[in-house]
Amino acid sequence: MILLDTYSLPNLLGFLALISYVITLLPTILRIVFPQTKATGLPQWLLKYRRLTGIIAFFLALLHGYFLVEKRQLDFFDPKTFWIYLQGISTFIIFTLLAITSNDWSVKRLKKNWKQLHKLTYIAMFLLTWHVWDKMSGHWTYLTPIGIVAIAGITLLYIIRLYIERQSQQQKLTKTSLVSAKSNK
Ligand code: HEM
Repeated sequence: MILLDTYSLPNLLGFLALISYVITLLPTILRIVFPQTKATGLPQWLLKYRRLTGIIAFFLALLHGYFLVEKRQLDFFDPKTFWIYLQGISTFIIFTLLAITSNDWSVKRLKKNWKQLHKLTYIAMFLLTWHVWDKMSGHWTYLTPIGIVAIAGITLLYIIRLYIERQSQQQKLTKTSLVSAKSNK
């Protein structure tokens, strides 16, 4: 039988950061994987508040990291600390980059690079799965199973989304080559 621990404030903050982050990924994934949800207006509503949700995720993660660094008295002058907390620190760097460029000014200034930069969000998804799995191994709290299901679930849906996009791109290519073959006859 798996025994679950009670959770502390830093754990709750990390969990809420994870849930807010997962919510930012939902609009595009829902539109492509579950197009029928468009009729409910949910993807559009989530999209409207995506920037705000992302910034909330950043601040919650900042507090989570801060409290844990304090509690464990982590020494950032020791290279071992970076190695042990590699996934958490890398995810946090990504969250920071995304939060500071989540404004119209950055979209205009960075142009095409903005989209490229914001694709980092998908790397954070894999890093975060690893972070929770690694850091909570052997002492899951009541929040851990929900967090794992949320992050692993969104990662799976993201992979399905990539597959659907590839399929429809291939279909488009086949259609175009059929049309050009017909017109060349
Ligand atoms: C984007 C950033 C981050 C997110 C979203 C995040 C999220 C989480 C989540 C959801 C948990 C599991 C909580 C539970 O199941 O009870 C966790 C655990 C943990 N995180 Fe993070 N984390 C982030 C960054 C960091 C950083 C920067 C550090 C420290 C340098 C850190 C250190 C830890 C530690 C030590 C644990 C294990 C806590 C325990 O043993 O109870 N995290 N994190």
